[in-house]
Amino acid sequence: MSILIRGGTVINHDHSRRADVLIDGETVAAVAPAIEPPSGAEIIDAGGCDVMPGGIDPHTHLELPFMGSVSADDFEWGTKAALSGGTTMVVDFCIPDPGQSMLAAYQDWRRKSEKAAADYGFHMAVTSWSKQIFDEMETVVKTYGINTFKHFMAYKGALMVNDDELYNSFARCAHLGAMPLVHAENGDVVARMQEALLERGVSGPEGHAYSRPPEVEGEATNRAIMIADMTGAPLYVVHTSCRQAHEAIARARAAGKRVYGEPLIQHLLLDAGEYESRDWDHAARRVMSPPFRDKSHQESLWAGLQSGSLQVVATDHCSFTTEQKRIGADDFRKIPNGTGGLEDRMPLLWTAGVNTGRLTKEEFVAVTSANIARILNIFPRKGAVAAGSDADIVVWDPAAGKTITAKRQLSRIDYNVFEGFACTGAPVITLSRGKIAWKDGELRAGRGDGRYVERPAFSPVHVANSTWKVQTAPKAVARARITP
Ligand code: URP
Ligand code: ZN
Ligand code: ZN
Repeated sequence: MSILIRGGTVINHDHSRRADVLIDGETVAAVAPAIEPPSGAEIIDAGGCDVMPGGIDPHTHLELPFMGSVSADDFEWGTKAALSGGTTMVVDFCIPDPGQSMLAAYQDWRRKSEKAAADYGFHMAVTSWSKQIFDEMETVVKTYGINTFKHFMAYKGALMVNDDELYNSFARCAHLGAMPLVHAENGDVVARMQEALLERGVSGPEGHAYSRPPEVEGEATNRAIMIADMTGAPLYVVHTSCRQAHEAIARARAAGKRVYGEPLIQHLLLDAGEYESRDWDHAARRVMSPPFRDKSHQESLWAGLQSGSLQVVATDHCSFTTEQKRIGADDFRKIPNGTGGLEDRMPLLWTAGVNTGRLTKEEFVAVTSANIARILNIFPRKGAVAAGSDADIVVWDPAAGKTITAKRQLSRIDYNVFEGFACTGAPVITLSRGKIAWKDGELRAGRGDGRYVERPAFSPVHVANSTWKVQTAPKAVARARITP
């Protein structure tokens, strides 16, 4: 079965041109001006539209057991929501309980993700350290096709790992050709500040934000960067939310370190004023870590995307219903952390980024799709509209208007943190591996249509990147430290 997308402007991260796109089965067969349709081809008229690689959201938590709840959007509804907003692949976090085998957690995630409607991959979390984890990391990379390992520097007493564990795991990543990811907040300091706030009688959602100031993120980001450098591993910092963290990343990059930063659409558009609402539900629905920041931080994040010191816009989609949030009615520490955004990331970023002149259309493609495909080693299979690439394509109408409301969303929760935001620019058709998954407001993708995407390990050159090693130590020193 072939499809010809005719008359649109193809936007890739590096250039745009008027071209038709011929799809044969699951892949793009040709991108060229005026392609003759093969007999029987379905024609999509893309006149007036942009034709872009489907979005990739590298940070989701679908059906995640977390803080006594399970996030409400599962792989079926999370990926359906994604497709409706132009996102054709998600990368979810496989998170073993501390002490649990990574291999067992992987099997759990494969089972949960069978119902995905769009393609997906996993990052594996390192939540404890042992000989078993050391050994299992090799299987995760070589057998499961996962080249990224996530480390939580926060959530003390639950998922948090300490510096010793970070160093060991980062070194193991470097050895295996994998990349560490960090949730960078100083969990020890957060725990102390939480206690101090509660002692002073602050138990509402605003306490969540007060206990996690930008300094705890800036410190942890800087620490993770230095530890990664000493092991020779590159580093990807998830949900970079503030100027302090962005500056640590920009500084590291300027010094030759291979460090990447990922702001979320939430932190780009929503600010800490949300926690001052007198409506407990309103504020609690917005509790996530790191919290929303003062508006001044948003300018820093936008500048990072514009200049290239930050590379990716994600969502950290981890949605909880109002009912679930109320678990923390008496103590902000118990409010399940997380917000949604998967459905709205692309239209929101287009509206606030492209329509304002902050981002070019090519930069929009870079930060929603191509950059992360390259960072995760799946480019150009994903992240490009090019011959040979998977036909994950969004036909985008830059003039289409949409006002976000929970009433019309696919996400299973009862609110939307972007309620009332007016977007101009939206997908009219989303194709997932050559099949129309979403068209004119109608969902066509089915449960189980998505496929697991393996990601090969990085080359040794990519990971052997320690500026410390280059300056002061023979290669053998860092390598010798790789012990379970
Ligand atoms: O608040 C958040 N971000 N919840 C999801 C888990 C995480 O920290 O990424
Ligand atoms: Zn996190
Ligand atoms: Zn997350």
